[in-house]
Amino acid sequence: MNTETMTQGNTDKIELNYGGREFSFPVVVGSEGEAGVDIAKLRSSTGLITLDPGYANSGSCRSAITFIDGDKGILRYRGYPIEELAMKSSFLEVAWLLMYGELPTKDQLATFTHEITRHTLLHEDFRRFFEAMPKAAHPMPVCASAVAALTTFYQDAAEAKDSRTSIVRLIAKMPTIASYAYKHSIGQPFMYPRNDRAYEANFLRMMFGTPCEEYEPDPVIAKALDLLLILHADHEQNCSTSTVRLVGSSKANLYASISAGISALWGHLHGGANQQVIEMLEQIETEGGSADHFIARAKDKNDTARLMGFGHRVYKSYDPRASILKKTCSDVLARTGVSSKLLEIGMRLEEIALHDEYFVQRRLYPNVDFYSGIIYKALGIPVNMFTVMFAMGRLPGWIAHWLELNADPDFKIGRPRQIYTGSPKRAYVPIASR
Ligand code: ACO
Repeated sequence: MNTETMTQGNTDKIELNYGGREFSFPVVVGSEGEAGVDIAKLRSSTGLITLDPGYANSGSCRSAITFIDGDKGILRYRGYPIEELAMKSSFLEVAWLLMYGELPTKDQLATFTHEITRHTLLHEDFRRFFEAMPKAAHPMPVCASAVAALTTFYQDAAEAKDSRTSIVRLIAKMPTIASYAYKHSIGQPFMYPRNDRAYEANFLRMMFGTPCEEYEPDPVIAKALDLLLILHADHEQNCSTSTVRLVGSSKANLYASISAGISALWGHLHGGANQQVIEMLEQIETEGGSADHFIARAKDKNDTARLMGFGHRVYKSYDPRASILKKTCSDVLARTGVSSKLLEIGMRLEEIALHDEYFVQRRLYPNVDFYSGIIYKALGIPVNMFTVMFAMGRLPGWIAHWLELNADPDFKIGRPRQIYTGSPKRAYVPIASR
């Protein structure tokens, strides 16, 4: 087989010579010049499929939501640079932008914020759901199950359609769900949401307040949380978003699709990495603080240790979200007065890795999780809640992709193929003869 890009004069086709025949496939070019081969007719015309484990070379859809240039470290939501959104927007504003394509007008934002504020309360029967979970349960499966269970309380969401109310309910209730998962695990009473608080302040109050005394979140902390949610809000076709799309492609409803996304995010190679970063830094601290020793382990192919928070499937230069968070990290630590020992170890790891041939050659740089874990720790968020925070931030992105999928004129159920490597047809052996 021989593929050749037709570069001279005509760049819009790929020629494929196979089995003595010649086929051509169109090149599709995105709005930022990203090109791909459209192989939709590959199997029907050639009998071939593509094999791409991990989908590192496969585009699963056309999407107008998020643009990433991993080589240049660029991330934009709906065309707006992440650096600008991080500085000028709020999380709910960014959520609207991702889901509906444009920055909201003042009125749209006010209405949306009002709707979100009015839907934060969970059905009272939901308390029993949390109470049924073991106290030692990790909050991620609790949240994934609770989001799936929303369908049982709001049965009008059972149909896969663009339901504004389902979307508002989900974004509004996620902080309540997350805080209930936490409160149950530590044996404290659930805190009802309050309509006079902003989104992040409400969450912090439900997490750290008790009915015994009023809790006033520090505005600097609430702002840092808002920033973290913005930075996590979308990241195009990553593992959890692709999961949401795949589940949604069966016409599963919004809650079912997002619940699957939360489960996918939990894995330590994806959203679970922020928890692993802190555990790695704490382990290094306990073992005497030698960053060099851990770096040597991460490079050793016979050792399973990896430098958590380093490396990314897409970014082959500094993750722009990590650059923004690096600055915020120092501000938050200064404000909270939390020991910066972990940050010091983190900085040392980063410094060594950025100059080490192993990491340089493989283009491994800090990713968003490297700093988010340190900030969450400083904010007082328990380590097993880190991934839940990530899920809260990623909600609008998942919803945006679910909406885009359902509105796609080329909509198809997701159904990859495979190259079968098992046994050829063989005779059945009766149990008495085995
Ligand atoms: N520490 C040490 N070596 C690493 C690391 C790391 N963190 N990441 C990659 N490598 C090495 C691999 O061993 C491999 O080396 P080799 O070529 O000698 O075999 C090479 O770099 C390429 O790594 P892959 O695993 O093939 O890269 P891939 O794109 O598949 O994986 C991933 C990306 C999963 C993020 C990986 O870099 C990793 O495991 N990082 C640590 C976990 C992490 O931080 N995950 C969060 C990602 S960001 C997010 O999900 C929000």
